[in-house]
Amino acid sequence: MKNKLVLKNNKSKFYHKLINNEPIYNKNSINRYKKKSGKNEKSYNKNKLENLGVLKNKINSIKDCELKKSATNIVFSDGNPNAKIMIIGEGPGANEDKEGKPFVGRAGKLLDKMLGSIKLDRKNVYISNVVNFRPPMNRRPTDEEIARYLPFLNKHIEIINPKILLLLGSTALNALIGSEVVISKARGKWVNKKIGNANPEVIASFHPAFLMRQPDQKKYAWEDLKMIRKKISELKIELNG
Ligand code: URA
Repeated sequence: MKNKLVLKNNKSKFYHKLINNEPIYNKNSINRYKKKSGKNEKSYNKNKLENLGVLKNKINSIKDCELKKSATNIVFSDGNPNAKIMIIGEGPGANEDKEGKPFVGRAGKLLDKMLGSIKLDRKNVYISNVVNFRPPMNRRPTDEEIARYLPFLNKHIEIINPKILLLLGSTALNALIGSEVVISKARGKWVNKKIGNANPEVIASFHPAFLMRQPDQKKYAWEDLKMIRKKISELKIELNG
């Protein structure tokens, strides 16, 4: 009994001895939260930014595209390229076309509020759209346009390599999951999808522009947002980038 107690009190010394280790005690505190940015991580991030630049240039050099012809700017993305949560909308509107950034108009303000409700913001998500140029008169992109931009979108997702992919509205849902599904039935369900080398957990929800027209549907969007918050904890996603 006595021996056992001695062993318990000296547990740490005992195990260090077992592995021939001589611990060095030091008064400096250890920052266990700060992630070290090693060489590999730095070059991975550099490649990521380079790949995003190449993709943006490719999209910008698209030929004979009605969308591009009438647009002012390419709307490629906003947010943090190292985020583990990626959000896909439909296509830029007038404000986005002017600023060259997704979701900066009224729908964007609502999206920011929705993200804020689960403690997210543009520093810990990455945002893009199914098409990168504004459809004239804000019409929905045609099936041909969606098909033409889909390889770019797939590549974009592959480069970002998110753990969670949120599809906002039926255009993003149909482009990435399939045209046979409807948003009212498919929303709020996780599906695992392989997109190139990326393998995110995918969830669809209502588009903020739709929620502005149908505010009574916001309760469902809230359910979906809570599912995302839960998944963030389950997957132990660090939100600082
Ligand atoms: N709606 C979208 O789908 N995307 C935007 O960028 C803005 C509004």
